Amino acid sequence: MATDPHPVVLVLPDAGALARAAAGRFVNVAARAVRTRGRFSAALSGGSTPGALYRWLAGDACRDRIPWNSVHLFWGDERCVPPDDPGSNYRLARETLVAHVPIPDANVHRVQTELDPDAAACAYAEALQGFFGSPWPRFDLVLLGLGGDGHVASLFPGSAALHETGRPVIAVTAQYEDRPARRVTLTLPAINSARQVLFLVSGEAKAGILHAVLESPASQLPARLVHPTAGRLTWLVDAAAARRLARTHPVAG
Ligand code: 6PG
Repeated sequence: MATDPHPVVLVLPDAGALARAAAGRFVNVAARAVRTRGRFSAALSGGSTPGALYRWLAGDACRDRIPWNSVHLFWGDERCVPPDDPGSNYRLARETLVAHVPIPDANVHRVQTELDPDAAACAYAEALQGFFGSPWPRFDLVLLGLGGDGHVASLFPGSAALHETGRPVIAVTAQYEDRPARRVTLTLPAINSARQVLFLVSGEAKAGILHAVLESPASQLPARLVHPTAGRLTWLVDAAAARRLARTHPVAG
C-alpha cells in the first residue's frame, strides 16, 4: 500500500456520534487484524477525547464483538506519573475500558512510569521490539488526539523530538495546559509505520487548529507530519470541530 495522500475526513454530528463511529472502526479493524494476522495491536491516546470511545468499547454494543484474548493495548504517549494518578493515560483507559472487558493482563502493555522517563522510554521500546519482533512497531491502529497547539501524542510544535528518526520511543518534556510535563512518546516514524491512524477531534475549541492542520499547507504543525507510509489516515471529527473547514467533507450519520 502506498502513502495515502488524501486522508479521509469524516464529520460526525456530535461528540457522542464521534465516539460511536470510532468504536465501530476499532471493532472492524480488530476483527480484520485477528482474522488475517491472529492478533490486534492498538496504541491508545490520552487527553479528554478518547474516554467516550473507551466506554463504548466496554459497553454492550461492542464488548462481545471484540476478541479480547487477541487484543494488545499499548499507548501512543504517556505522562510520567504513577499509573493510578488522575493524569495517567493508562489510568483513563483502565477505568473506562480495561477494567470492564476480559482482556488478559499480559496484553496490556503500559509504559512503566515508575522508572525515570529515559529508562521508561527504553523499557517501552524493548517491549515493542519484543512484541513486534523488530525495533519499529507496526501497529494495526494508532489513535491520536489533536492538541490545541497542533501536537500529537507528546510531539509538540518546535520540539527536537519531531526530527527523531533513530528511535521509536523517546522521553520529552513539554508544558501543555496543566497536564504533567514529563512524558514518553512514540516518535513520528513509529506512528507513521501503523496500518491505520485514526484522529479523534471534538469540540469548537479545536475548530481553528483543525482548519490549520487540514487546510493550511504551509503550516508546520506536528499533526501535519502524520502520514502513514504504508497505511491509512482517517480523521473523525465532530461538527463543532469542523466548523471552520472550508472544504466539504462527508458527513457520517
Ligand atoms: C496526552 C495526549 C495528547 C492528546 C491531545 C488532545 O497524553 O495528552 O495523548 O496528545 O491526545 O492533547 O487532548 P484532548 O483530547 O484533551 O483535546
